[in-house]
Amino acid sequence: MDRVTVSLGERSYRILIGNGLVDRAGDHLAGFTRNGRLLVVSDETVWSTLGARLQTGLGDIEAVPVIVPAGEDSKSWAGLRFVVDSLLSAGVERSDHVVAFGGGMVGDLAGFAAAIVNRGCRFIQVPTTLLAQVDSSVGGKTAINVAAGKNLVGAFHQPSLVLIDPLLLGTLDDRQLRAGYAEIVKYGLIEDRPFFEWLEEQGGAVLAGEPAARTKGITIAVNGKARIVEEDERETSGRRALLNLGHTFGHALEAETGYSDRLLHGEAVALGCVLAFDFSVERDVCAAEDAARVRRHFVASGLPATLSELGLAGIGDRLAAHMVHDKKREGGRTTFILARSIGQAVMDKAIELADVARFLERAR
Ligand SMILES: NC(=O)c1ccc[n+]([C@@H]2O[C@H](COP(=O)([O-])OP(=O)(O)OC[C@H]3O[C@@H](n4cnc5c(N)ncnc54)[C@H](O)[C@@H]3O)[C@@H](O)[C@H]2O)c1
Repeated sequence: MDRVTVSLGERSYRILIGNGLVDRAGDHLAGFTRNGRLLVVSDETVWSTLGARLQTGLGDIEAVPVIVPAGEDSKSWAGLRFVVDSLLSAGVERSDHVVAFGGGMVGDLAGFAAAIVNRGCRFIQVPTTLLAQVDSSVGGKTAINVAAGKNLVGAFHQPSLVLIDPLLLGTLDDRQLRAGYAEIVKYGLIEDRPFFEWLEEQGGAVLAGEPAARTKGITIAVNGKARIVEEDERETSGRRALLNLGHTFGHALEAETGYSDRLLHGEAVALGCVLAFDFSVERDVCAAEDAARVRRHFVASGLPATLSELGLAGIGDRLAAHMVHDKKREGGRTTFILARSIGQAVMDKAIELADVARFLERAR
């Protein structure tokens, strides 16, 4: 088992990573129970696929399930109300630990519910998608989507523990797995060139589920996120903004495709990273060879790496217009994460959206 600690003073917590951890969940979660039970928020797909496994792993601990429909629509005011009401009906107390058992949708929804119910109770993340294991379960960002946009209502609320069992990914479909893999690659691109080079060699094994390679990929990515979150928990110094590499372009692509199955978040991040590198080359910050290498790796990993394959070429103005609604805009400007090289992402607050639109108009 690998252990990563996120050091945030009194909000510090451990991330445990290991194959089969959920089968021994009772050993790891016993210290977080009250009256021998745990409230577990999950979605219908995850609960029907993996709920019995969690319950068996919990042993004598009783799991009290709060189940929402699978899919992003549950990360809404209605979904939040249902979860909060269900937790209150089940007698949740401030000292309780709510378990978020699912992908990023469940983690964000359950985490936000935990942040506000009884003015805040504790929670534990047991992520079941690759994206959630390497990204959303760590760092304490919780939110729901509202009419004005995605993730616009939420709270920073750090979990008390994150339990990552890579074997849970065995039932995840291949496309979701690849989408999560894009976030793993992102950590190499941001500040860990040797990790990117390892992924060029071993990414196939990570995707294929080779146990040692997959666990190593997850652990390095989680460690990368933990270190950045420690330095900038609430995204105030700019350090945490580096995690948005590929996301400003990616969100524009997701908005244009209606946040639908046409383009999963991780797929948008993959193409977004390619565009961020290409744009960095155009601005003379990055060598063309690095950008080509990034594109090659995403293509080799079965992820989208061109606008044209998604039917999104030649609409630069429309894509750039979506960036005006980016929630990370400050003083009317969108912050872009560019790259000097693979492993060296940089923040740039001085980019004109008109330049981005022209670049996207030409990009294929
Ligand atoms: N808080 C953060 O820092 C952060 C970061 C990135 C993304 N997010 C959020 O995460 C969400 C996306 O997360 P996601 O990609 O995990 O999607 P998701 O939670 O919707 O899961 C994707 C699908 O996979 C199913 N599923 C989950 N685990 C499974 C398993 N082991 N086997 C079979 N099916 C399984 C789910 O039921 C769902 O249908 C978005 O809402 C996004 O905004 C949050």
